[in-house]
Amino acid sequence: MHIFQRFFVPLLFAFTNLAIAQAQSTYEPSVGQEGKDVVWVPTPQTLVNKMLDMAKVTPKDFLMDLGSGDGRTVITAAKRGVRAMGIEYNPDMVELSKRNAQKEGVTDKASFVKADLFETDFSKATVITMFLLPDINLRLRPKILNLKPGTRVVSNTFTMGEWQADETGNADNGCESSWCTALLWIVPAKVAGSYKTPLGEVTLKQDFQMLSGTMHADGKTYGLQGKVRGEDITFSAGGKSYVGKLKGKTLELEPVATRGLRG
Ligand SMILES: C[S@@+](CC[C@H](N)C(=O)[O-])C[C@H]1O[C@@H](n2cnc3c(N)ncnc32)[C@H](O)[C@@H]1O
Repeated sequence: MHIFQRFFVPLLFAFTNLAIAQAQSTYEPSVGQEGKDVVWVPTPQTLVNKMLDMAKVTPKDFLMDLGSGDGRTVITAAKRGVRAMGIEYNPDMVELSKRNAQKEGVTDKASFVKADLFETDFSKATVITMFLLPDINLRLRPKILNLKPGTRVVSNTFTMGEWQADETGNADNGCESSWCTALLWIVPAKVAGSYKTPLGEVTLKQDFQMLSGTMHADGKTYGLQGKVRGEDITFSAGGKSYVGKLKGKTLELEPVATRGLRG
């Protein structure tokens, strides 16, 4: 082998690798930089905290941040003991997030995947966080509505079309940007249908988490208004309030007062 090949080529290879590693470790993202479908703008830390508070994350959760940027939401969740994964298309941001997680000592809980959020299976998540755009939220909505009932979805600022948020919250003082509002949705169970119950016949119509319909009891038919939050159904009809759950095809229903007396 020629002396050039034996010594110079491996040396060149080592230097190139060193230069790449150095460039990566000094990578500084800039606010507004292009992303595949959305530019990068970081969620203010106070709103990250608020979003996790609203989702009531616990160490039992598995959180996925769709378009995870520099990893701040995933890392903050991991610091609360939550297993969390960021999905990010930009490979430099993925490497930056991994370094940030290492600095914060949460690599056991925080992971990052270089992937397109539209190609990602997030059915295992119990909490989804996102800071995308209204039209992207709408494209994701059918998939989100098919997640396990009770899955919490929190979005920085952007809505989900006619699917109204279950809760809206503002970051505490210290959020000095245009991005200080969070919206929370709880994936509702699919409960539309007609059910015979010991308390009467109930017909539920469902529009996302909102319920309307009728209750036929004591020879009278009453209009019904209510909500489904995860699997928990609440409605009022004929001046009374009810709580219930769908178990298979059976609607298990209780009047609220009776439940209250039982403690
Ligand atoms: C507005 S930033 C939000 C970053 C982070 N979630 C936060 O709240 O600080 C949106 C992020 O989504 C990423 N992104 C855009 N399109 C994407 C796609 N199709 N799949 C995965 N990530 C994407 C961008 O690179 C950017 O980092």
